[in-house]
Amino acid sequence: MSKVHVLHLYYDFFAMLDRRFKNPGADFSSGLERNTFWLLVMKINDCGGNMEKNMHLWEEYYQKILANPHRIQTEIAEALNSSGNFKAIDCGCGTGADISFLVEKGYEVSGFDMHQESVKICSDRFHGNPNVDISQSHFIDFNYFDCGLVLANLSLFFCEPKDFSEVWSKIDDAILPGGVFCGDFMGFRDSWVTDCDTTVCPLTEEQVNGLFSGYKVEQFKENDSQGVTALGVTKHWHIYQVIAKKAQ
Ligand SMILES: C[S@@+](CC[C@H](N)C(=O)[O-])C[C@H]1O[C@@H](n2cnc3c(N)ncnc32)[C@H](O)[C@@H]1O
Repeated sequence: MSKVHVLHLYYDFFAMLDRRFKNPGADFSSGLERNTFWLLVMKINDCGGNMEKNMHLWEEYYQKILANPHRIQTEIAEALNSSGNFKAIDCGCGTGADISFLVEKGYEVSGFDMHQESVKICSDRFHGNPNVDISQSHFIDFNYFDCGLVLANLSLFFCEPKDFSEVWSKIDDAILPGGVFCGDFMGFRDSWVTDCDTTVCPLTEEQVNGLFSGYKVEQFKENDSQGVTALGVTKHWHIYQVIAKKAQ
């Protein structure tokens, strides 16, 4: 069921309440109104139930990608960093493959993720490494600090839409002149945009470009095609992958 359908249900339901309020004596137990009510209840349960289902899916996802190497775009971004600063932040760090790469390159890395399982995997993986700090945080709550590199590979589009501009200005403030941002944004044709299970923050190409006015965009790739997720689910991807360097 799409978000538009859910909005229609809410509209019907509140219209029904309004009619009841204005006509307290009337019989409103028509089939249509009963259906609206139960569809709404089912929808609320569906979303609530899916929180746990999603948690389970994230755990499955981490197991699938655990042995994956770092992303090639992280390598490109790292090589472009001319800020003289070798601190990095990995936003939504997953299982920590990119952290591992950056540490080998001599970086001090702070990785954070909202999911406990990711934090556990990364804490075990980098246990005792003084150059890695792992914390559990949402994008909006993380304490961003001045650094030469910010990664948000396949993660930032999970930001709550209401928080996005504040999160982006924190990221932008953190990147030093000559520093680099490397991450992905979601376009409106991605099938997750209309999928209620996952909150995403889609942006137009113009909106993505607008984020990088003080930067030189070094790489901009759009993927607008049918594909599969790491868990083998078919979906339509619409992703903008960006590597951009802040003006010095
Ligand atoms: C698709 S995974 C990508 C992981 C890793 N960056 C990579 O490239 O493999 C997205 C990650 O973002 C995290 N995430 C989603 N929403 C988040 C939020 N609001 N704050 C922090 N992390 C979040 C998820 O828990 C997940 O680990």
